[in-house]
Amino acid sequence: MTKIYKTHSLLPHNTFGIDATAENFVEFSSVDDIVAFLSKGFDGRSLVIGGGSNLLFVNDFDGTVFHSAIMGMEIVDENENDLLLRVGSGVNWDELVAYTVEQGWGGLENLSAIPGEVGASAVQNVGAYGVEAGELIAKVETVRLDDATRREFTHDDCSFSYRHSIFKDTEKGKHIITYVTYRLSKKPVFKLTYGNLNEKVEQLGGATLANVRRAVCEIREAKLPSPEKIGSAGSFFMNPVVPASVAESLTNEYPSMPQYPLACGDVKLSAGWLIEQCGWKDTPHEHVGVYKHQALVVINRGGATGKNVLDFAEAVVASVKEKFGVTLNMEVNVID
Ligand code: EPU
Repeated sequence: MTKIYKTHSLLPHNTFGIDATAENFVEFSSVDDIVAFLSKGFDGRSLVIGGGSNLLFVNDFDGTVFHSAIMGMEIVDENENDLLLRVGSGVNWDELVAYTVEQGWGGLENLSAIPGEVGASAVQNVGAYGVEAGELIAKVETVRLDDATRREFTHDDCSFSYRHSIFKDTEKGKHIITYVTYRLSKKPVFKLTYGNLNEKVEQLGGATLANVRRAVCEIREAKLPSPEKIGSAGSFFMNPVVPASVAESLTNEYPSMPQYPLACGDVKLSAGWLIEQCGWKDTPHEHVGVYKHQALVVINRGGATGKNVLDFAEAVVASVKEKFGVTLNMEVNVID
């Protein structure tokens, strides 16, 4: 079924809690439905959204917003070690993670409690606690917006990197993701080296899928605002990557600055730390601020417009640039 709405509120469709509208809103529940809709010919501005957990609407959207309500999961292949699970793009991300943990299938447990839907996991390459969704993605199925043809992207086609994929690059804005297939393990190998994750898991009784999920949920709950209570889009900025020489001179000046050397020789810095050092935890604006436990998360303190948030974010970027000479890039997709 395809549902078509005119002048539709986007408030329930963005975790920032921005009160914007879409000129048209199209929600479909099968591949055939969206193919039939697009086959009639579609042009004009378009935006494909998932759970709206990584979006900032600065204005009302003067075009068509597409939302997938394709549900369901099925095993499409398996052997004694692993399996391929094909999942509808409209499935809630954490329901998928919870289900795979219950089944005893390893891979997604470190990605527990991330807001959003399955389709977006392939666009954003969502990541947390040492795991990125792209590592597990075997295939992405799409329908092209311009000619309604079905496409398939293998893992390699997707060019996953930190919070990035081909769907944010050369294929940006061209596809509606319909299904994502994940390769999961029947013999889980735990990744517990990030921060205090291992310690938490040990406190819960040792490494099992359920304990890793519980530990991750508890860490996130302590550090990140719950979208039901406080409007935000998770990390607003990406962690910046700088050349080793820049990182070294920053360490000399700021010995406590967290730094994470990458295999390529560059160094990743912590955006949260940089923002906190600029004093933003203590200087909220009227409608906008950063979260008290994680400065990388910009929050709606109540009644913020998209423009309020963007102005605030730009002030944060300018202050980090001035103090540290480092440029922060936004992780959130700003839609104007
Ligand atoms: N830090 C501060 N002050 C802050 C925040 C962080 O000093 O206000 C320091 C921490 O003490 C720590 C370092 O910065 O030394 C890193 O902090 P954390 O472990 O919280 O991770 P992060 O790099 O800030 C990233 C992801 C998160 C993800 C966590 C855990 C990005 C942009 N963000 O945050 O992702 O949950 O790692 O893996 O890469 C998201 O994308 O929405 C998100 C929440």
